[in-house]
Amino acid sequence: MKVFIRSFGCQMNKLDTNLVVNSFLQAGFQFTEEVSESDVVLINTCSVRNHAEERVLSLLGHLKHIKKTNPHLVAAVFGCMAQRLKEDLLSHEAVNIVCGPLQIPELVSLVNKAVEQNTKLTAVSSDIRHNPPQQQSDRLDEFELLYDKAQDNLPAQAYVRVMRGCDKFCSYCVVPYVRGPEASRPPQKIIAQIKKLADAGIKQITLLGQTVNSYRYNGSSFADLLYEVSKVDGIEWVKFVTCYPKKFDERIFKAMVDLPKVCRYLHIPAQSGSDKILKAMNRGYTCAQYLEIIDKAREIVPDIAIAGDFIVGFPGETDEDFQKSIELVEKAQYKNCFIFKYSPRPGTRADEKLADDVPMEVKKQRNIELLAVQDKFSENLNKSFIGRTVKVLVEGTSKKSHLDKVGKEGVSQLIGRTAGDYIMVFDGPTNLAGQFVDIIITKTSSLTLFGRLKLM
Ligand code: SAH
Ligand code: SF4
Ligand code: F3S
Repeated sequence: MKVFIRSFGCQMNKLDTNLVVNSFLQAGFQFTEEVSESDVVLINTCSVRNHAEERVLSLLGHLKHIKKTNPHLVAAVFGCMAQRLKEDLLSHEAVNIVCGPLQIPELVSLVNKAVEQNTKLTAVSSDIRHNPPQQQSDRLDEFELLYDKAQDNLPAQAYVRVMRGCDKFCSYCVVPYVRGPEASRPPQKIIAQIKKLADAGIKQITLLGQTVNSYRYNGSSFADLLYEVSKVDGIEWVKFVTCYPKKFDERIFKAMVDLPKVCRYLHIPAQSGSDKILKAMNRGYTCAQYLEIIDKAREIVPDIAIAGDFIVGFPGETDEDFQKSIELVEKAQYKNCFIFKYSPRPGTRADEKLADDVPMEVKKQRNIELLAVQDKFSENLNKSFIGRTVKVLVEGTSKKSHLDKVGKEGVSQLIGRTAGDYIMVFDGPTNLAGQFVDIIITKTSSLTLFGRLKLM
């Protein structure tokens, strides 16, 4: 049987997709890139903004048509949107299976059952915040440990979950409701998994958690974990996302200085520069406290690359509040910023208590304006790198053609990332994918560095 898989959402979801792909391959399924030739369609979904759900619904609309000519096609929707909508999703004509993010180890058997019995099935926690999570966590851990290759991932790179769920309850955010309570994985299991990945040729791991710096297991902190992870032979780079800007343990910055494997990259969303809005978002810090963390980071790790997230058009955001976000972007000197238009999520406190009162036009305008401020900064920052040599982990061939056409045979335009998570584009042989190379930076834009291979 042939499986087509599509994945939406964050790195957490990408990892889950990899685990699911792995389990289907082990069960003897094959994968295809064409929906038209598939027997099974798997969709890993995201609920963080309405747009993410719309994309899933449009794919389901497409499937409804395909099912007219292929009625035996089995479609399974899993992940965050499946958890949010539960059985309601089954009423969609195209959907056979709804499976929550905690039930992904059951997907293979659900699909087999749906194929045999031609029935509709669900496996979703009815109340994910109050489930007995231990048993489920153990099962997910086992499922995760079966994964020893980075299927479908970038060569030599893998994600490793250190925490599940989230307990922060930012007022706009659906994640705590669809991913359940925060739970840290035992360090022994994390290390065992990283060793297994290293044995399979993985050189860079990215530790994942919604608020990775809140990691705590029986007195062991995230900084402690970084020291342990660094001891694993074969792993050369350790990255981690995402950090929460509250009670930030400075030892994490010290670990960056002490441990050459730990990349000097920090993704630390601010969400807004206005204290009034931060309070309404239930973020639990002020703009000044946020800046203190960034200052501390730069004091301890002067060359740290910092990335941020902002939401524009949160309920009650005035021009004055927005101006404060602009000021924060100017002060923070981010390497890059992800900017999102506020999207009300059903069930969240912001949606229940606050009117979505910033018009879409204004949200769009603010999004463009904030991006422009960041872009200008990034452009100048990147220009200052011209002439430097940097180490890059090569991902593969670049999809977009950024540079002039390449004439030489066997040479293509490659893409990779630096330890600071800068995107680097350069010409080189495709067999460099998954390797570390040195690149001399020759040209830059606000989003990309361009360069040439430094010959040894
Ligand atoms: N756990 C991470 C990221 C979670 S979601 C963190 O706390 O940093 C990724 C980003 O999506 C968030 O940082 C936020 O900027 C954005 N986001 C989350 N909910 C949103 C919503 N309802 N509307 C618009 N953007 C949202
Ligand atoms: Fe959502 Fe806030 Fe948790 Fe991040 S920290 S996942 S924004 S609730
Ligand atoms: Fe989306 Fe779920 Fe991630 S809602 S952002 S896929 S945790």
